[in-house]
This record gives sequence, C-alpha cells and structure tokens, in this order.
Amino acid sequence: MTTLPATSLTEIAQQLTGAGRGVLAADESIKTMSARLAAEGVPASATARRDYRELLLTADGLSQWISGIILCDETFGQDLADGRPFPVAARELGVLPGIKVDTGTTPLPGQGGALITEGLDGLGARLAAYADRGAAFAKWRAVFDVDTITPYSAGANGQALARYAALCQQHGIVPIVEPEVLCAGTHGIDASAKASALALSALFAELIDAGVDLSAIVLKPNFVTPGLDAAPASPAEAAAATVAVLREYVPAEVPGIAFLSGGHPTARVCEYLTALAAIDGRPWSVTFSFGRALVSAALRTWANAPTDIVAAQDVLLGNCATAAQAASA
Ligand code: 13P
Repeated sequence: MTTLPATSLTEIAQQLTGAGRGVLAADESIKTMSARLAAEGVPASATARRDYRELLLTADGLSQWISGIILCDETFGQDLADGRPFPVAARELGVLPGIKVDTGTTPLPGQGGALITEGLDGLGARLAAYADRGAAFAKWRAVFDVDTITPYSAGANGQALARYAALCQQHGIVPIVEPEVLCAGTHGIDASAKASALALSALFAELIDAGVDLSAIVLKPNFVTPGLDAAPASPAEAAAATVAVLREYVPAEVPGIAFLSGGHPTARVCEYLTALAAIDGRPWSVTFSFGRALVSAALRTWANAPTDIVAAQDVLLGNCATAAQAASA
C-alpha cells in the first residue's frame, strides 16, 4: 500500500482547487455516456467513448484552466490513439488524473425514495490499484432530492462518504466528497438551502467521527438555487444563499470547494461562481468541477462535425476559460 504524508494530500487538494483552475468531470458511467452520445446521434461504443474523452483531454492548453480530470473506470483503463494510458497522458499534459469509485445509487428501503450510494465493498483494494496506476484523487457522489432527503438518508450517505474518504487518504489519494442535492424540480431556493444544510451537517459529523483529515479533501457541492424548472435566482442571491450554508457547516480546514454544475446553463452557473468568488472572508478556495456546463456544447459540436476535432476542443476550451475566470473573480 502506498501511503503519502498528509501534507502531500493537502498540496494536491490545494492544486486541484487553487490558482484559478478547476476540475473537469468526464466520469459519466458507460450507461450515461452512451445515452449522451446516442442523444447526439453518435453510435455508442467503447471506441466512441474513448475518442470523445481523448478529444477532451488533449484540447491544446487545457491545463491552463483545468487542474484535474475525473475519469470513470473504463476510460482510466483505456489508451489514447498514441498508446499512452489516459492517466499517464493526463499527467504529461499537466492535468491530475482522478477516478470515480462509487458504483451508483439504489433506493434506501423505508425512506420514501431516498437513495444510498454504493461501492464500499472491496474499495481499499480498488484504491490501491488505482493509486499504482497514477490516480491522484477520487470521487464519490451521494445524491439527494429536496423532496425525499431524510435525516437518516443524509446520515447513511454521510457515513459512506466518510468511509470512502478515510480509505482514500489511507491509500494516498485525495477524496473529492460530493453530497449533491439535485437541482431538478420546481422548488424554491429555501428548499435547496434546507436540504443542503441537512446533507452537509450530517456529512461533516461523519467525516470528523471517521478521523478524515479535513485539510486533505475537496468538497464538491451544488450551488443553493431554485429548481431548474422554477424562476432562476440572481447570481447575488444564489451566491449569498450558498455561502450562508457553507459557512455554517464546512470547517475552515477544508482547503477547497469545487462546485458541480447540476444542469444549470453554462453562462448562469459561471455567473453564480463569479458572484460567490467575489464574497470576502471565505476560509476555503472556490472553483468548479463541472461536467455538463463544460462539455455538452463540445459533444454536440463533435457530433455535428466528427472530423473537426479542433472545433469541438475550442468550444470546450472556451467554457473552461469562462469557468476559470469566474473562479478567479
Ligand atoms: P455536472 O456538472 O454535469 O452536474 O456534473 C458534475 C458531476 O461530476 C456530477 O457528479
């Protein structure tokens, strides 16, 4: 087992979330990625998924805006066209490779539809193997809905996230800890704030009880906003509501917070990040760990012009630059 000193993990967490760069989430499962390709008219296959991820990773100058890339197990084990394994190529391109290690969600019995994220069985051995193959960090995503979150589901998911985070640190990997309150729906901003507070309070109680070094994690939360089918909040309103919840529950030792985009349009979610980054007196760095807000337009561009890789890469780079500038506000 490789065990790195905690200071190294803290430095990696700082690298991932500092200096005006963010994390590219390209870790959609085989099922989700296949559905996204098919929706754009690209027949899904292991090769198509690989070609698309290669396009993202090899965009010229990506590391100016992107500190790390989250991959799924399939991509982590694939090679670029030039034969380099993805994690090796990522490091050579100045981007830290990360790996999504949860195995998805299933309903929690007796909890009215609330979900639990699975993947703890055998996780230590998997993390050891990923570390040997170059993983610098990992991701585990818990999923909550404002209508179905319960104190029990917040606690159960918080405990799973804490066990995952402790195992990651034991294996020399920085854990990205993601308690996502879904943005889908018609709810108001207060419902999002309430659910986010419940998820974060349970999570940090469990992280502390599990002995996780809070200086060597990255928190990946949602912005506190109204549901995607409700009237959007102004950037100032979303930023203030988000910071209010984070200040209450996220200890100052946490070096960095990297937000997910949650289905918000790219321009809007970048405005939220700009407004939030401008708030003074935060103890943690803030940046982005967006998936859809960075890649959706690039995927469409590629699907429409599969031989013009550079056109799709330019769209990706434009979104990464906008998000990175938002984080540096
Ligand atoms: P979105 O930014 O598309 O919400 O995805 C981020 C992510 O990694 C969700 O787990």
